[in-house]
Amino acid sequence: MKAMILGATGLLGKALVREWTGDEVIGLGSGAVDIRDAARVREAVEKSLPEWIVLAAAYTDVDGCEAHADVAFSVNRDGAVNVAQAAKQAGAKLLFLSSDYVFDGKKTSPYEVSDVRNPQSVYGRSKAEAEVRLLEVMPEVCIARTSWLFGTGGKCFPDTILKLAASRPALDVVNDQRGCPTYAVDLARAIISLCRTGACGIVHVTNSGNCSWFEFAQEIVKDAGVAVEVRPVSSAQMARPAPRPAYSVLSATSLQHYGIEMPEWKDALRRYLKERAS
Ligand SMILES: NC(=O)c1ccc[n+]([C@@H]2O[C@H](COP(=O)([O-])OP(=O)(O)OC[C@H]3O[C@@H](n4cnc5c(N)ncnc54)[C@H](OP(=O)(O)O)[C@@H]3O)[C@@H](O)[C@H]2O)c1
Repeated sequence: MKAMILGATGLLGKALVREWTGDEVIGLGSGAVDIRDAARVREAVEKSLPEWIVLAAAYTDVDGCEAHADVAFSVNRDGAVNVAQAAKQAGAKLLFLSSDYVFDGKKTSPYEVSDVRNPQSVYGRSKAEAEVRLLEVMPEVCIARTSWLFGTGGKCFPDTILKLAASRPALDVVNDQRGCPTYAVDLARAIISLCRTGACGIVHVTNSGNCSWFEFAQEIVKDAGVAVEVRPVSSAQMARPAPRPAYSVLSATSLQHYGIEMPEWKDALRRYLKERAS
């Protein structure tokens, strides 16, 4: 199989390139192909003629999206449509990365793929609108929603906590937002399996189990053996430009349909810490 990864220089993209062995893999960052440029996207896809395109490229700065909505929509929605149109024309299959932010976070039980989108932020709206447009352009697209991504390939929550812990005696971390941390390596492996089984439709892909950011931070410092006090605070005390969903746990049912079981987030965190230290 030949696969093309757009967003190969990002946190997930780097893990995908590393984990995807046994097939021909072409990884491209924004320097090689800006997905806002429809002609350039078409040219790159037609040149390589991949069987699968994994679209991990996005404008992922959630607070930045509030200030630069034009960029958010041109990259995350219109760029995704450019890729879907090029994929369709070249007969390639497409897996698009989406987010828990397409939901409003008001549920108290895991979100199923059939739950109604109701994004509360510009980033969430750009992803939700991309999903709707992609399903119109290419009904057989695979949309993999994930959440709380961490890994060694870029900026992420565990890395930030450990860097802050090195210079502060105590850290305040929000305890009223719940979600599923997801290790880029485990997500990459699941995506590769989904492509190999010819998946289509919406799938939720996260590590299993869930926690609040405060509980996540507690586990990070405990596992890393760092002596720092972690204090629970509310989202209101840590106001950010973009609203975050209070509850964005994604149900594993859609992934189990493909026979894929994800490791528990605490196990994933321990493997991440080992990878980070190596
Ligand atoms: N991080 C999370 O917690 C999280 C949660 C849920 C869903 N997701 C989704 O998962 C996917 C991967 O996220 P990530 O955290 O790995 O992202 P990331 O580390 O921020 O990387 C973003 C990637 O997108 C590329 N990119 C940005 N703008 C582009 C453009 N105009 N044209 C082409 N490429 C462009 C970047 O390329 P350059 O570096 O070369 O500029 C980079 O490779 C994204 O779709 C994201 O929305 C992430």
